[in-house]
Amino acid sequence: MKIKVGVFFGGNSVEHEISVISALQAINAFDTDKYDVVPVYVTKDNNYYCGEFISKIEEYTDIKGLINKSQRVIFVKGNRKAEIYKFPFKTFSNKMYDYIDIAFPIVHGTNVEDGTFQGFLSYLGVPVAGCDVISSAVGMDKYVMKTVLKYNKIPVLDCIRINSFDYENNKKAVVDKIKESLSFPIIIKPVNLGSSVGIKIAKDIQSLENAIEYSFEFSKEIVAEHAIENLKEINCSVLGDYESAEASECEEPLSKDEILSYKDKYMSSSSNKGMASVKRKCPAEIDDNVREKIRLLAVDTFKVLRCNGVVRIDFMIDNESQEIYVNEINTIPGSLAFYLWKESGINYKDLLTKIIQLALKRQREQEEINYSYDTDILKGFSFGGSKGAKGSKGVKF
Ligand SMILES: Nc1ncnc2c1ncn2[C@@H]1O[C@H](COP(=O)(O)OP(=O)(O)O)[C@@H](O)[C@H]1O
Ligand SMILES: [Mg+2]
Repeated sequence: MKIKVGVFFGGNSVEHEISVISALQAINAFDTDKYDVVPVYVTKDNNYYCGEFISKIEEYTDIKGLINKSQRVIFVKGNRKAEIYKFPFKTFSNKMYDYIDIAFPIVHGTNVEDGTFQGFLSYLGVPVAGCDVISSAVGMDKYVMKTVLKYNKIPVLDCIRINSFDYENNKKAVVDKIKESLSFPIIIKPVNLGSSVGIKIAKDIQSLENAIEYSFEFSKEIVAEHAIENLKEINCSVLGDYESAEASECEEPLSKDEILSYKDKYMSSSSNKGMASVKRKCPAEIDDNVREKIRLLAVDTFKVLRCNGVVRIDFMIDNESQEIYVNEINTIPGSLAFYLWKESGINYKDLLTKIIQLALKRQREQEEINYSYDTDILKGFSFGGSKGAKGSKGVKF
């Protein structure tokens, strides 16, 4: 019997549309000898839809129409599978829609790539492909991620975290702190977004305030760091788990503007290929020793953050100093970075199979852990002062 893979995509994120592209690309690449794919579209208000139209890209120009002709569903934990039920329930109809053996989230951005959705899927009791709750959460928060990496001696640029409450209460103190700690130009980014949304470079105090206020439109917390002027960006994917992980070929994404923008990433061609259509040099034109250093740092970063499956780690090289920094990690990379693995001799079908095998391995390992601890603490337990507690020898609060 084939394994049923629920591919979840969409969700309440600014990268909703990119996720639709990434997921529909993947759905066409699974090994159909081994897997039956159940596509599950998650709307921006977190409802789930299945049906024959859900995997057709052309339907996403009219989402209301798509939803009207699709089946709304809910998920219920079953015995080693997650059962899918039609929702709302109708009295005399068949309520069961389908089931899945494994959940494969292909979602990008806040609320979905940050551990929230991974937690929800884990509660369904099925293996979940990719990073777990903690690695997803740490990977999504630019400040927390840098802090963890820095602690583990992985090179990152220093940054300052600012929350909107502090800024509104004392703008001057916040601006002074940034000025004292960082040199211009300074880049301001939302702490937990992706796809270059909400990012601006400030060259002076005036534009710094504009950049901060712009970024706060997208997140209550933002980070400031020095902006490298003579920058080369290199991306490298890593595939594996805590035991064994390997780095892909390196690419150099090419931007038209000061920063690699949303437009550069997804709208530079009309081919609807998401991250796979970015203008890039692959393999990147870098010296062999730089390439090897980046690939080693990529694997180190993956392991420090306890990742699983496929991720993409983005590096910045300062062309003046030749310093290499980890800029960020994408725990569910656009297009699952399949184009980098293709360059490394692994086709998309095998990449997806490997990600599923890693998720199954993790599930097996977790099943070996004992989650209960024998105790008689509840025996004779009472809340102090309440009826029946008098004379009890049990624990009192
Ligand atoms: N410190 C920096 N110096 C110069 N450019 C930067 C710096 N940080 C980010 N950028 C530019 O902004 C882009 C988006 O920033 P990034 O941190 O990757 O956020 P996102 O999660 O939105 O992709 C990068 O690809 C790069 O072009
Ligand atoms: Mg980025």
